Amino acid sequence: MSYTVIYAGTFDPITNGHLDIIERATKLFGKVIVAVAKNPGKQPLFSLEERTQLVEQSCAHLSNVQAVGFSGLLAHFATLHNAKTLIRGIRGSDDIEYEIQLAQLNEKQAAGLETVFFPPAVEWRYLSSTMVREIYRHQGDVTQFVPAPVLKALKEKE
Ligand code: COA
Repeated sequence: MSYTVIYAGTFDPITNGHLDIIERATKLFGKVIVAVAKNPGKQPLFSLEERTQLVEQSCAHLSNVQAVGFSGLLAHFATLHNAKTLIRGIRGSDDIEYEIQLAQLNEKQAAGLETVFFPPAVEWRYLSSTMVREIYRHQGDVTQFVPAPVLKALKEKE
């Protein structure tokens, strides 16, 4: 049976930093479920359906990746999909405290649910979805930061 891990985020939109982590994870694990959070706390530019579709399209070259939208607790989503491991990216020391807290809270919600951390590739260390949206909003060039389907979708939002 293939070992399934979950990579969750808002992905508004998915960036090359996210994609780098997904690609690396596909080499280590049997299946990567990219869990796209509804996240009512943020007011996303792209709808949940659009964000999930953009993840799907950006990962089309990876046969062991599935994009699934979700709302509610990530730990419950993991249990539903029989996954015992979450993966998260840590981009620098600023992320660490929050990530440890999140990992512990997730484990409290689903006993045995582990979190595995990935360091970022150097070139994506300072990237975030907010920055991509911000650069784009001010007519900057985001070509180097996002997969081709996202670039197309951003242009269609104009
Ligand atoms: N490359 C580029 N950008 C990255 C990145 C990487 N490797 N890793 C993270 N980022 C960016 C994200 O795009 C995000 O940018 P944004 O704030 O501009 O949208 C930012 O860094 C923070 O990332 P993250 O902490 O993963 O936030 P998120 O909103 O993408 O995802 C959830 C958070 C969805 C995983 C989390 O809120 C969750 O699990 N929600 C469900 C409810 C729940 O279970 N909560 C836990 C309670 S116990």
